[in-house]
Amino acid sequence: MAKRLNVLATGGAGFIGSHVVVELIAAGHGVVILDNFENAAPDVPARLGRITGVDIPTIRADVRDKEMVRRALGRHGIDAVIHLAGKKAVGEAVAQPLLYYDANLGGGVALLEAMQESGVGKLLFSSSATVYGPGAAPMDEDHPVAPSNPYGRTKLMLEEIITDAVAAGAIESAISLRYFNPAGAHPSGLIGEDPRGTPNNLFPFIAQTAAGRHAKVRVFGDDYDTPDGTGVRDYIHVVDLARGHVAALSHLMAAGMPQVHERFNLGTGRGYSVKEALTTFSRACGFQVPYEIVARRAGDVATCVACPDRAARVLGWRAEMTLDQMCADHLAFQREVA
Ligand SMILES: NC(=O)c1ccc[n+]([C@@H]2O[C@H](COP(=O)([O-])OP(=O)(O)OC[C@H]3O[C@@H](n4cnc5c(N)ncnc54)[C@H](O)[C@@H]3O)[C@@H](O)[C@H]2O)c1
Repeated sequence: MAKRLNVLATGGAGFIGSHVVVELIAAGHGVVILDNFENAAPDVPARLGRITGVDIPTIRADVRDKEMVRRALGRHGIDAVIHLAGKKAVGEAVAQPLLYYDANLGGGVALLEAMQESGVGKLLFSSSATVYGPGAAPMDEDHPVAPSNPYGRTKLMLEEIITDAVAAGAIESAISLRYFNPAGAHPSGLIGEDPRGTPNNLFPFIAQTAAGRHAKVRVFGDDYDTPDGTGVRDYIHVVDLARGHVAALSHLMAAGMPQVHERFNLGTGRGYSVKEALTTFSRACGFQVPYEIVARRAGDVATCVACPDRAARVLGWRAEMTLDQMCADHLAFQREVA
Protein backbone atom coordinates (compact mmCIF):
# COMPACT_ATOMS: atom_id res chain seq x y z
CA MET A 1 0.00 0.00 0.00
CA ALA A 2 1.06 3.58 -0.64
CA LYS A 3 2.33 5.69 2.26
CA ARG A 4 -0.36 6.76 4.72
CA LEU A 5 -1.10 10.46 4.30
CA ASN A 6 -2.94 12.97 6.46
CA VAL A 7 -5.34 14.86 4.25
CA LEU A 8 -7.40 17.97 5.00
CA ALA A 9 -10.70 17.89 3.06
CA THR A 10 -12.30 21.34 2.92
CA GLY A 11 -16.00 20.86 2.20
CA GLY A 12 -15.55 17.24 3.29
CA ALA A 13 -19.10 17.03 4.71
CA GLY A 14 -20.68 17.89 1.35
CA PHE A 15 -21.97 15.59 -1.38
CA ILE A 16 -18.70 14.86 -3.19
CA GLY A 17 -16.45 15.52 -0.19
CA SER A 18 -18.15 12.91 2.00
CA HIS A 19 -17.59 10.25 -0.69
CA VAL A 20 -13.96 11.36 -1.09
CA VAL A 21 -13.49 10.97 2.68
CA VAL A 22 -14.81 7.37 2.53
CA GLU A 23 -12.47 6.40 -0.32
CA LEU A 24 -9.43 8.07 1.30
CA ILE A 25 -10.01 6.07 4.48
CA ALA A 26 -10.57 2.89 2.45
CA ALA A 27 -7.18 3.54 0.83
CA GLY A 28 -5.56 3.75 4.27
CA HIS A 29 -5.20 7.53 4.62
CA GLY A 30 -6.12 9.76 7.57
CA VAL A 31 -8.63 12.57 6.96
CA VAL A 32 -9.60 15.78 8.73
CA ILE A 33 -12.78 17.56 7.56
CA LEU A 34 -13.04 21.35 7.55
CA ASP A 35 -16.55 22.52 6.65
CA ASN A 36 -18.81 25.40 7.68
CA PHE A 37 -21.88 23.15 7.14
CA GLU A 38 -23.74 25.79 5.13
CA ASN A 39 -24.73 23.07 2.66
CA ALA A 40 -24.22 19.86 4.64
CA ALA A 41 -26.37 17.99 7.14
CA PRO A 42 -24.99 18.11 10.71
CA ASP A 43 -25.05 14.30 11.02
CA VAL A 44 -22.76 13.63 8.02
CA PRO A 45 -19.65 13.04 10.20
CA ALA A 46 -21.61 10.50 12.27
CA ARG A 47 -22.80 8.77 9.10
CA LEU A 48 -19.22 8.71 7.80
CA GLY A 49 -18.25 7.09 11.10
CA ARG A 50 -20.85 4.36 10.51
CA ILE A 51 -19.53 3.68 7.00
CA THR A 52 -15.81 3.77 7.79
CA GLY A 53 -15.63 2.74 11.44
CA VAL A 54 -13.41 5.78 12.01
CA ASP A 55 -14.18 8.81 14.17
CA ILE A 56 -13.16 11.51 11.68
CA PRO A 57 -11.87 14.78 13.18
CA THR A 58 -14.22 17.52 11.98
CA ILE A 59 -13.58 21.25 12.25
CA ARG A 60 -16.59 23.54 11.82
CA ALA A 61 -14.99 26.56 10.17
CA ASP A 62 -15.09 28.75 7.09
CA VAL A 63 -12.23 28.21 4.67
CA ARG A 64 -11.93 32.01 4.39
CA ASP A 65 -10.82 32.00 8.05
CA LYS A 66 -7.11 31.66 7.28
CA GLU A 67 -6.07 31.42 10.92
CA MET A 68 -8.38 28.45 11.53
CA VAL A 69 -7.11 26.71 8.39
CA ARG A 70 -3.49 27.32 9.39
CA ARG A 71 -4.12 25.85 12.83
CA ALA A 72 -5.85 22.80 11.32
CA LEU A 73 -2.89 22.19 8.97
CA GLY A 74 -0.37 22.39 11.80
CA ARG A 75 -2.25 20.55 14.53
CA HIS A 76 -3.06 17.52 12.36
CA GLY A 77 0.28 17.20 10.54
CA ILE A 78 -1.40 17.58 7.15
CA ASP A 79 0.49 16.33 4.06
CA ALA A 80 -2.00 17.42 1.39
CA VAL A 81 -5.24 19.37 0.98
CA ILE A 82 -8.28 18.49 -1.12
CA HIS A 83 -10.21 21.72 -1.63
CA LEU A 84 -13.89 21.01 -2.23
CA ALA A 85 -15.45 23.82 -0.15
CA GLY A 86 -17.37 26.34 -2.17
CA LYS A 87 -20.66 27.43 -3.62
CA LYS A 88 -21.93 25.72 -6.77
CA ALA A 89 -25.38 26.91 -7.90
CA VAL A 90 -25.14 28.54 -11.33
CA GLY A 91 -28.43 30.50 -11.02
CA GLU A 92 -27.44 31.90 -7.63
CA ALA A 93 -23.99 32.81 -9.00
CA VAL A 94 -25.59 34.80 -11.84
CA ALA A 95 -27.84 36.64 -9.36
CA GLN A 96 -25.16 37.19 -6.68
CA PRO A 97 -21.73 37.09 -8.36
CA LEU A 98 -19.92 38.91 -5.55
CA LEU A 99 -21.04 36.26 -3.07
CA TYR A 100 -19.47 33.63 -5.34
CA TYR A 101 -16.23 35.51 -5.91
CA ASP A 102 -15.92 36.03 -2.16
CA ALA A 103 -16.65 32.41 -1.24
CA ASN A 104 -14.86 30.61 -4.06
CA LEU A 105 -11.92 32.93 -4.75
CA GLY A 106 -11.63 34.38 -1.23
CA GLY A 107 -11.71 30.84 0.14
CA GLY A 108 -9.12 29.60 -2.34
CA VAL A 109 -6.69 32.45 -1.70
CA ALA A 110 -7.01 32.14 2.09
CA LEU A 111 -6.32 28.41 1.80
CA LEU A 112 -3.25 28.93 -0.41
CA GLU A 113 -1.87 31.52 2.03
CA ALA A 114 -2.43 29.18 4.97
CA MET A 115 -0.70 26.35 3.07
CA GLN A 116 2.27 28.57 2.20
CA GLU A 117 2.64 29.75 5.81
CA SER A 118 2.40 26.16 7.09
CA GLY A 119 4.69 24.59 4.50
CA VAL A 120 1.96 22.27 3.18
CA GLY A 121 2.74 22.04 -0.52
CA LYS A 122 0.28 19.66 -2.19
CA LEU A 123 -3.20 20.63 -3.37
CA LEU A 124 -6.06 18.88 -5.21
CA PHE A 125 -8.75 21.31 -6.34
CA SER A 126 -12.39 20.56 -7.27
CA SER A 127 -12.76 22.26 -10.61
CA SER A 128 -15.48 21.68 -13.14
CA ALA A 129 -16.25 20.94 -16.78
CA THR A 130 -18.09 24.28 -16.76
CA VAL A 131 -14.70 25.91 -17.42
CA TYR A 132 -14.88 24.63 -21.01
CA GLY A 133 -16.30 26.65 -23.86
CA PRO A 134 -18.79 25.20 -26.33
CA GLY A 135 -17.61 22.79 -29.01
CA ALA A 136 -17.60 19.24 -30.15
CA ALA A 137 -17.66 16.42 -27.58
CA PRO A 138 -15.76 14.58 -26.18
CA MET A 139 -13.69 17.34 -24.61
CA ASP A 140 -10.10 16.76 -23.56
CA GLU A 141 -8.15 19.01 -21.18
CA ASP A 142 -6.86 21.12 -24.08
CA HIS A 143 -10.38 22.07 -25.16
CA PRO A 144 -10.61 25.90 -25.09
CA VAL A 145 -11.80 27.33 -21.78
CA ALA A 146 -14.63 29.90 -21.84
CA PRO A 147 -16.96 29.59 -18.86
CA SER A 148 -20.39 31.09 -19.53
CA ASN A 149 -21.35 32.21 -16.00
CA PRO A 150 -19.77 33.59 -12.79
CA TYR A 151 -19.67 30.17 -11.10
CA GLY A 152 -17.60 28.71 -13.95
CA ARG A 153 -15.40 31.81 -13.92
CA THR A 154 -14.61 31.31 -10.21
CA LYS A 155 -13.41 27.79 -11.08
CA LEU A 156 -11.23 28.95 -13.96
CA MET A 157 -9.87 31.95 -12.02
CA LEU A 158 -8.92 29.77 -9.05
CA GLU A 159 -7.17 27.34 -11.42
CA GLU A 160 -5.15 30.31 -12.72
CA ILE A 161 -4.39 31.57 -9.21
CA ILE A 162 -3.15 28.07 -8.32
CA THR A 163 -0.90 28.07 -11.43
CA ASP A 164 0.65 31.38 -10.32
CA ALA A 165 1.04 30.17 -6.72
CA VAL A 166 2.81 27.00 -7.90
CA ALA A 167 5.07 28.92 -10.32
CA ALA A 168 6.13 31.27 -7.51
CA GLY A 169 6.81 28.38 -5.13
CA ALA A 170 4.07 29.39 -2.66
CA ILE A 171 2.95 25.76 -2.84
CA GLU A 172 4.81 22.88 -4.43
CA SER A 173 2.37 21.25 -6.88
CA ALA A 174 -1.32 20.96 -7.61
CA ILE A 175 -3.93 19.11 -9.60
CA SER A 176 -7.25 20.56 -10.72
CA LEU A 177 -9.87 17.88 -11.27
CA ARG A 178 -12.53 18.92 -13.77
CA TYR A 179 -15.66 17.01 -12.79
CA PHE A 180 -18.37 16.29 -15.34
CA ASN A 181 -21.80 15.37 -13.82
CA PRO A 182 -21.51 13.56 -10.49
CA ALA A 183 -24.56 11.42 -9.69
CA GLY A 184 -25.60 8.51 -7.48
CA ALA A 185 -24.69 7.96 -3.85
CA HIS A 186 -22.75 5.64 -1.58
CA PRO A 187 -24.23 2.09 -1.86
CA SER A 188 -24.91 2.10 1.92
CA GLY A 189 -27.58 4.78 1.32
CA LEU A 190 -26.10 6.76 4.23
CA ILE A 191 -24.60 9.67 2.27
CA GLY A 192 -25.62 11.35 -0.97
CA GLU A 193 -27.09 14.55 -2.34
CA ASP A 194 -30.36 15.93 -1.03
CA PRO A 195 -30.29 19.67 -1.74
CA ARG A 196 -32.50 22.10 0.09
CA GLY A 197 -35.06 23.87 -2.14
CA THR A 198 -35.36 23.08 -5.84
CA PRO A 199 -32.35 21.05 -7.01
CA ASN A 200 -30.16 22.42 -9.81
CA ASN A 201 -28.99 18.98 -10.87
CA LEU A 202 -31.03 16.34 -12.67
CA PHE A 203 -30.62 13.34 -10.38
CA PRO A 204 -31.76 14.96 -7.12
CA PHE A 205 -34.67 16.48 -9.06
CA ILE A 206 -35.72 13.08 -10.41
CA ALA A 207 -35.29 11.43 -7.01
CA GLN A 208 -37.27 14.11 -5.16
CA THR A 209 -40.02 13.89 -7.80
CA ALA A 210 -40.14 10.11 -7.41
CA ALA A 211 -40.53 10.69 -3.66
CA GLY A 212 -43.50 13.02 -4.31
CA ARG A 213 -41.71 16.26 -3.38
CA HIS A 214 -42.26 17.79 -6.87
CA ALA A 215 -45.17 17.16 -9.26
CA LYS A 216 -42.98 16.65 -12.34
CA VAL A 217 -39.39 16.75 -13.53
CA ARG A 218 -38.93 19.71 -15.84
CA VAL A 219 -36.94 18.72 -18.92
CA PHE A 220 -35.42 21.86 -20.43
CA GLY A 221 -35.89 21.42 -24.18
CA ASP A 222 -36.36 18.41 -26.46
CA ASP A 223 -35.23 20.07 -29.68
CA TYR A 224 -31.45 19.82 -29.28
CA ASP A 225 -29.30 18.17 -31.92
CA THR A 226 -29.07 14.87 -29.98
CA PRO A 227 -30.58 11.42 -30.67
CA ASP A 228 -33.79 12.08 -28.69
CA GLY A 229 -33.64 15.88 -28.64
CA THR A 230 -32.86 16.21 -24.91
CA GLY A 231 -29.47 17.34 -23.55
CA VAL A 232 -26.69 14.77 -23.25
CA ARG A 233 -24.36 14.80 -20.23
CA ASP A 234 -21.53 12.66 -18.89
CA TYR A 235 -22.95 11.36 -15.59
CA ILE A 236 -20.32 9.81 -13.34
CA HIS A 237 -21.00 7.76 -10.21
CA VAL A 238 -19.83 9.79 -7.21
CA VAL A 239 -17.94 6.76 -5.84
CA ASP A 240 -15.97 6.50 -9.11
CA LEU A 241 -15.32 10.24 -8.89
CA ALA A 242 -14.11 9.88 -5.30
CA ARG A 243 -11.72 7.09 -6.32
CA GLY A 244 -10.34 9.44 -8.98
CA HIS A 245 -9.24 11.70 -6.12
CA VAL A 246 -7.34 8.87 -4.43
CA ALA A 247 -5.54 8.11 -7.72
CA ALA A 248 -4.78 11.82 -8.27
CA LEU A 249 -3.45 12.13 -4.72
CA SER A 250 -0.96 9.28 -5.29
CA HIS A 251 0.22 10.97 -8.48
CA LEU A 252 0.49 14.35 -6.73
CA MET A 253 2.61 12.90 -3.92
CA ALA A 254 4.96 11.04 -6.29
CA ALA A 255 8.49 12.39 -6.26
CA GLY A 256 9.80 14.39 -9.16
CA MET A 257 6.87 16.65 -9.98
CA PRO A 258 7.47 19.92 -8.14
CA GLN A 259 6.17 23.21 -9.56
CA VAL A 260 3.53 21.57 -11.73
CA HIS A 261 -0.18 22.28 -11.89
CA GLU A 262 -1.89 19.53 -13.87
CA ARG A 263 -5.52 19.25 -15.00
CA PHE A 264 -7.53 16.06 -15.38
CA ASN A 265 -11.08 15.44 -16.54
CA LEU A 266 -13.06 13.12 -14.29
CA GLY A 267 -15.86 11.74 -16.45
CA THR A 268 -16.82 8.45 -18.08
CA GLY A 269 -16.52 9.43 -21.74
CA ARG A 270 -20.10 8.18 -22.29
CA GLY A 271 -23.06 10.55 -22.58
CA TYR A 272 -26.67 9.91 -21.58
CA SER A 273 -29.67 12.03 -22.50
CA VAL A 274 -32.09 13.44 -19.93
CA LYS A 275 -34.73 11.04 -21.25
CA GLU A 276 -32.37 8.06 -20.87
CA ALA A 277 -31.64 9.13 -17.28
CA LEU A 278 -35.40 9.39 -16.59
CA THR A 279 -36.09 5.97 -18.12
CA THR A 280 -33.28 4.32 -16.15
CA PHE A 281 -34.32 5.95 -12.87
CA SER A 282 -37.97 4.99 -13.49
CA ARG A 283 -36.87 1.37 -14.04
CA ALA A 284 -35.03 1.42 -10.69
CA CYS A 285 -38.13 2.86 -8.94
CA GLY A 286 -40.57 0.47 -10.61
CA PHE A 287 -42.79 3.29 -11.92
CA GLN A 288 -42.58 6.10 -14.47
CA VAL A 289 -41.33 9.31 -12.84
CA PRO A 290 -43.59 12.08 -14.24
CA TYR A 291 -41.97 14.74 -16.39
CA GLU A 292 -42.85 17.60 -18.71
CA ILE A 293 -40.93 19.24 -21.52
CA VAL A 294 -40.41 22.96 -20.93
CA ALA A 295 -38.43 25.65 -22.78
CA ARG A 296 -34.64 25.42 -23.08
CA ARG A 297 -32.68 26.94 -20.22
CA ALA A 298 -30.33 29.83 -21.07
CA GLY A 299 -26.69 28.75 -21.24
CA ASP A 300 -27.33 24.99 -21.67
CA VAL A 301 -25.51 23.18 -24.48
CA ALA A 302 -26.70 20.10 -26.41
CA THR A 303 -23.89 17.76 -25.38
CA CYS A 304 -21.12 17.83 -22.78
CA VAL A 305 -19.02 14.66 -22.55
CA ALA A 306 -15.48 14.13 -21.27
CA CYS A 307 -12.50 12.60 -22.94
CA PRO A 308 -11.17 10.77 -19.85
CA ASP A 309 -8.03 9.37 -21.51
CA ARG A 310 -5.46 11.54 -19.73
CA ALA A 311 -6.67 10.37 -16.31
CA ALA A 312 -6.56 6.75 -17.52
CA ARG A 313 -3.04 7.12 -18.91
CA VAL A 314 -1.41 9.18 -16.14
CA LEU A 315 -3.44 8.33 -13.03
CA GLY A 316 -4.37 4.75 -13.96
CA TRP A 317 -8.01 5.57 -13.16
CA ARG A 318 -11.21 5.00 -15.12
CA ALA A 319 -14.86 5.23 -14.11
CA GLU A 320 -16.44 1.78 -13.88
CA MET A 321 -19.98 2.11 -12.57
CA THR A 322 -23.09 2.20 -14.75
CA LEU A 323 -26.06 4.55 -15.01
CA ASP A 324 -28.21 1.76 -13.48
CA GLN A 325 -25.94 1.75 -10.41
CA MET A 326 -26.15 5.55 -10.13
CA CYS A 327 -29.96 5.33 -10.15
CA ALA A 328 -30.18 2.40 -7.71
CA ASP A 329 -27.75 4.00 -5.25
CA HIS A 330 -29.38 7.41 -5.44
CA LEU A 331 -32.75 5.78 -4.81
CA ALA A 332 -31.41 3.89 -1.77
CA PHE A 333 -30.12 7.17 -0.34
CA GLN A 334 -33.37 8.97 -1.12
CA ARG A 335 -35.30 6.28 0.78
CA GLU A 336 -32.91 6.66 3.73
CA VAL A 337 -33.30 10.47 3.98
CA ALA A 338 -36.97 10.77 2.92
N1 LIG B 1 -21.81 18.55 -7.77
C1 LIG B 1 -21.42 18.93 -8.98
O1 LIG B 1 -22.14 18.75 -9.95
C2 LIG B 1 -20.05 19.55 -9.17
C3 LIG B 1 -19.51 19.61 -10.47
C4 LIG B 1 -18.28 20.21 -10.66
C5 LIG B 1 -17.57 20.74 -9.58
N2 LIG B 1 -18.11 20.70 -8.34
C6 LIG B 1 -17.37 21.28 -7.22
O2 LIG B 1 -17.07 20.27 -6.27
C7 LIG B 1 -17.06 20.83 -4.96
C8 LIG B 1 -17.98 20.02 -4.07
O3 LIG B 1 -19.29 20.04 -4.64
P1 LIG B 1 -20.52 19.29 -3.98
O4 LIG B 1 -21.45 18.92 -5.07
O5 LIG B 1 -20.05 18.27 -3.04
O6 LIG B 1 -21.18 20.53 -3.21
P2 LIG B 1 -21.71 20.58 -1.70
O7 LIG B 1 -22.37 21.91 -1.55
O8 LIG B 1 -22.47 19.36 -1.35
O9 LIG B 1 -20.34 20.56 -0.87
C9 LIG B 1 -19.60 21.73 -0.58
C10 LIG B 1 -19.29 21.70 0.90
O10 LIG B 1 -18.51 22.86 1.20
C11 LIG B 1 -19.06 23.49 2.35
N3 LIG B 1 -18.73 24.91 2.22
C12 LIG B 1 -19.24 25.81 1.33
N4 LIG B 1 -18.65 27.00 1.50
C13 LIG B 1 -17.73 26.85 2.50
C14 LIG B 1 -16.81 27.73 3.12
N5 LIG B 1 -16.70 29.02 2.74
N6 LIG B 1 -16.04 27.25 4.12
C15 LIG B 1 -16.13 25.95 4.52
N7 LIG B 1 -17.00 25.08 3.96
C16 LIG B 1 -17.78 25.52 2.96
C17 LIG B 1 -20.53 23.17 2.35
O11 LIG B 1 -21.11 23.21 3.63
C18 LIG B 1 -20.55 21.76 1.77
O12 LIG B 1 -20.46 20.78 2.77
C19 LIG B 1 -17.47 22.29 -5.11
O13 LIG B 1 -16.30 23.07 -5.12
C20 LIG B 1 -18.17 22.32 -6.46
O14 LIG B 1 -18.08 23.58 -7.06
C21 LIG B 1 -19.33 20.10 -8.10
